[in-house]
Order: sequence, then structure tokens, then C-alpha cells
Amino acid sequence: LLIRGRVLTFVAEPQGIDDTAAWRYFEDGAVFVRGGKVVATGDYAEVRGRAGADVAVADHRPNLVLPGLIDTHLHFPQTQAIASYGAQLLEWLNTYIFVEEQKFCDTGHAAAVADRFMDELISNGTTTAVAYCSVHPESVDAYFTAAEARGMGMIGGKVMMDRNAPDALRDTPQQGYDETKALIAKWHGRGRARYAISPRFAITSTPEQLEMSQALVAENPTCYVQTHLSENKDEIAFATSLYPEAKDYTDIYARYGLLNERMLLGHCIHLSDREIAVLAETRSVGVFCPTSNLFLGSGLFDRDRFDKAGARWSVATDVGAGTSFSMLETMDEAYKVLHLRGQKLTPFNSFYRMTLGNARALGLEDQIGSLHAGANADIVVLDSSAKPAMEYRMRTATSLAQELFILQTMGDDRCVAEVYVAGKAMKAKASAKARVPET
Ligand code: GUN
Ligand code: FE
Repeated sequence: LLIRGRVLTFVAEPQGIDDTAAWRYFEDGAVFVRGGKVVATGDYAEVRGRAGADVAVADHRPNLVLPGLIDTHLHFPQTQAIASYGAQLLEWLNTYIFVEEQKFCDTGHAAAVADRFMDELISNGTTTAVAYCSVHPESVDAYFTAAEARGMGMIGGKVMMDRNAPDALRDTPQQGYDETKALIAKWHGRGRARYAISPRFAITSTPEQLEMSQALVAENPTCYVQTHLSENKDEIAFATSLYPEAKDYTDIYARYGLLNERMLLGHCIHLSDREIAVLAETRSVGVFCPTSNLFLGSGLFDRDRFDKAGARWSVATDVGAGTSFSMLETMDEAYKVLHLRGQKLTPFNSFYRMTLGNARALGLEDQIGSLHAGANADIVVLDSSAKPAMEYRMRTATSLAQELFILQTMGDDRCVAEVYVAGKAMKAKASAKARVPET
């Protein structure tokens, strides 16, 4: 299959609005896909020559063709809890989330939500995401089964939590360990599935559970690790009171050997210089979740401090505290959050972050996040004029940078014209299903 359109893909992090060496743009471009992989990307005429005369062509002109978008932190069981009103983090968890997640003891419910969750990601152009499942191992089966059915390269894991949560949502250190170990054996490396060891955060794990998490991380060096760090002031005070021997919140996770280059730490808003230095040293990734941070009133991520310290960061929706599955809407809010901090996010840097940047945060840049030969053919097609107001605005746009900024600022799932997962067109299927009424 030859996917034809205006092709944009990154090779490095753009260092400024004029850093054209960081991306490749083909005005009449094409991606040649075979066996679910990218064979070649470049000018249409040239790629067409390599593909042969009888190759099928999906002509998406004048739309943009980019690598599929990547979301590095969200919660699959919170799909039906987006827009839960009026509370900051700890009250929001207790009032809404710890009620909602209890529903996932029902495998039928978990399977139904997993299907909708994957379809919603695809509708929004997201082809890889890293999610927390509920405490129930069956929720992980539902999650990876739905991903596998669509050919998606998804990452996730059972949340571990053994205190400060309702009885029905608590495991024990041993149970969390045993269930995680069994799920890793079942799913990690099966097709495109990858496991993330997921102690929820220091507040809901006892020292014994963090010790078990440490063992899991040591025993499974190719698995990801994910947790939450420094999202909210009350959370920080509570967490550090539970671990009085730790120097600060970050040190809690450091003491249990959880910080490494495969660790994704949600939020990281209120960190000291010492804590950011520890993240840099351990190559852990701070995950910027702008819609969530605004929705819960948590605070403003400080990107420049991460960059100055040489610490890694990625971007994510954090659904259901995050208010949208759309990475475009997420980058719109990221721009505004950084603006409030006096920091600029260029359009090229935004699109780098959603694709190659997030792929690098996951150590998967050889497989996803760009359109180099050998990459998985996970591709999104974006229509910058999908909404009337966008079409009207686009009439005065004079550069690719402006177009990308309009897409990010005004766009949403309506701009996602098509999505390819491992070379298969998915969008029509996913959105048709999303219109079927059900409970
Ligand atoms: N901290 C611990 N659990 C959660 C969660 O589910 N969402 C957010 N935003 N923060 C958390
Ligand atoms: Fe989260």
C-alpha cells in the first residue's frame, strides 16, 4: 500500500521554529507500507518507482500524513469518569475514581469499556498508549485483548494498591506481586503488548508493596514501570508523612529502586531542584499531563527546569483526570500551561513530542513515532480544515508551522481523517462502532 499525502516526520527534537534539519517534509509525499511495516518514505514519484506500478494507492492529498500519535499516561478504567465535577486530586480519587474502578471486577464491563477505549484512541489518531488498568487482573486481560484485536502496540498493567483505598480495590503486597508476575508472563512481549509494573502511587502502597514492586522491576528488566509523583500539594504532604525516612517524595521511589530509564512518572509538577536532578541522573521520565493538571487544579508543569537539568519528559492525556483523548487538544493545553510559565512551545516541537519525542521516552523510537524504513506502519492522516472555523482560518495560513499550530489549537478527532495501525486502515471502523448506542 502506498499512502499518499503531505508527509511530515521527525528525525530529531526541533531546537527552534527554523530548525528544518529536525524534520522531513514531502509536499507530494508517500509512505510505502508492506507487511505492517514502513518500507520507504519520501517524494511520491520516487517512492512510487520503488513500490512498482501495480501497488494500491490511498490518496490522502491534501491532508497531512504523520506517524501515529503516542499517549504516555492514561487510565483505561476512567473512560466513563471524565468530567467528574468539583474536586482536587485526593477528593476526586475518593469520590469518583475509587467508585468507578470497582466496576472492573466485572469482566463483561471491563471488555466493553476496553473496546470503547481502544476505538476512542484510534478515532483520535493515537496508535500507542501507556495505561493503568484497575487492580483486577481481568481488566488487564480485557485491555490487551482489545489492543491485540486491533493490532495496536499498547503498554499497560494492573494497578497495585494495598492501602488508603476501599476494600474492594486493595490487593496485598504478595497478591500484587503474584498477579503482576502472572500477567507479565501472559502478556509482556506477546505480539505488540508490553507490560508496565504499576504501583499507583506512594499513598496507596505500603512499604511492603513498594518492596515487592522493587523485586518485580529487578526481575523484569524489559518491563516498563509507572506511578504518580508530585501532582498536588496535599498529596505530597500525605505521601511524605507516610515515608518519614525519605528526603522528599521522589526519594520514596528512589529508595525502592524504582527509578530507571523505563520509569514513567505522572505529573512531576512541584519538584525541588534536587528531585529533578535525581530524575535526570536515573533517566526517569516526567510525564506532562496538561488537561489533567488544569482540570484538577494541580499546577503548571515546568518544562524549562526539566530541560535545563537534562531530565527527560513526555506528554500525555491522563484520561480520566485528563479531559480529552485527543493529543491535539492535549498539546493545545500544553501550549497554554507553558505560556502561563513564560515558556514557549513551538508547533514543530508539539508535533515532535506527540510522535518521536514520546517514542523516545518509551525507548521505542526504532519501532514507532517516525516513518523511517523498518518502523511499524502506525500512521495518522490529519485534515487541517475539518471544521468550518478551521477551514476559514486556514485560508490565511502561509506556512506549515502555522498549519500545525491551527491543528493543535482548533483541532480534535474531527481532524483525524484516517488512522493506520500496522498498515491497516482503522478510523472508519472505530468511529462507526463509537456511534452504536449501548449502556
Ligand atoms: N494519583 C494516583 N492515582 C491517580 C489517578 O488515577 N489520576 C491522577 N490524575 N492522579 C493520580
Ligand atoms: Fe494518572
